[in-house]
Amino acid sequence: MPAAPRSFQLDVNGDRHEITVEPDAPLLYVLRNDLGLNGPKFGCGLGECGACTVLVDGVAARSCVIPVKGVEGRAVTTLEGLGTAGAPGRVQRAFIACQAAQCGYCMNGMIMTSHALLARNPHPTEAEIRRELQYNLCRCGTHIEILHAVKRAAQDRT
Ligand code: FES
Repeated sequence: MPAAPRSFQLDVNGDRHEITVEPDAPLLYVLRNDLGLNGPKFGCGLGECGACTVLVDGVAARSCVIPVKGVEGRAVTTLEGLGTAGAPGRVQRAFIACQAAQCGYCMNGMIMTSHALLARNPHPTEAEIRRELQYNLCRCGTHIEILHAVKRAAQDRT
């Protein structure tokens, strides 16, 4: 039987949110359904595709398999926290400039994972980029444009 709902204080994109939810509710559901943050996507729901990726204390993590109780007291960043439509962040700008999307469903995970990579390794080699993104699935085949986008973001000094 699921644990009873309780109150949580969540730090998401620098804002404090109080929500009441079952402790084992997937973070992805809370972000999308309770906080209206639709950057992270539901793909497999099994931690395998990467569509739901967010940052937890700066580390890329799959929000479909993280219970909300697991991020209490930790900083969660979603795609919305990296920039806006009018002022996208550098990785978002690079993906737009390189037209690194076809259907776009994987973009959230690609961008969030790339952001985490560049934060700890500002100048990754192509092999390092490939290794980092190997478990983020894209069924459209925009892998070459995605590689270009990550390299472009690494060169963006603004
Ligand atoms: Fe979370 Fe696929 S939806 S990894």
